Amino acid sequence: AVELNPVLLPLSWLLGTWGSDEPGEGTYPSIKPFRYTEKLHFSHVGQPVINFMFNAFHAESNKPLHRECGFIRVQQGTNRVAFVIAQNSGLVEIEEGELTGNQLKLQTQSLGRISFAKEPHVQQICRVLQLRPDGNLEQTVSMATDNQSLTQHLHITYSRSC
Ligand code: HEM
Repeated sequence: AVELNPVLLPLSWLLGTWGSDEPGEGTYPSIKPFRYTEKLHFSHVGQPVINFMFNAFHAESNKPLHRECGFIRVQQGTNRVAFVIAQNSGLVEIEEGELTGNQLKLQTQSLGRISFAKEPHVQQICRVLQLRPDGNLEQTVSMATDNQSLTQHLHITYSRSC
């Protein structure tokens, strides 16, 4: 195995594969609540960068839904973290924030989308990823769109899988 770049030590708890044991909850004022499952994969190749893939599925039909992938960088010597993200919905995004203990809190810094992206358009995303004391990982995502101020869209818990 390639040795972990020391810059990534504060985020080493993310590395590996995670899966939701129980379905996550999707909500938003303008949509019907839904349940989903999700697999997360975080890896590295020795660079000071984490590579990630998140793949979500409809909880009942198992149909692939949302997918995102990208890179995570840490500003050396600080607790500043940046995610570079591409989403299957036609969105590309930079989220930045801070690592406090085992909690990562990120917000959109810049956002781009394909010309024919579905409306309403997302304007802002807030994401919290945290390693809980029980060893599980938790993700909460809120978003603002053209029609709605910042409101929760997703909440899910994952455990380590192989
Ligand atoms: C709806 C954005 C992640 C499933 C939506 C809507 C937006 C959005 C803008 C439309 C809201 C409206 O009509 O007012 C995002 C963003 C995500 C994300 C930015 C990631 C950061 C996910 C994930 C799932 C998911 C992980 C899991 C399966 C859905 C579903 C709907 C929806 C089922 C309702 C039906 C639809 O509009 O397609 N999302 N979403 N989303 N999202 Fe997400």
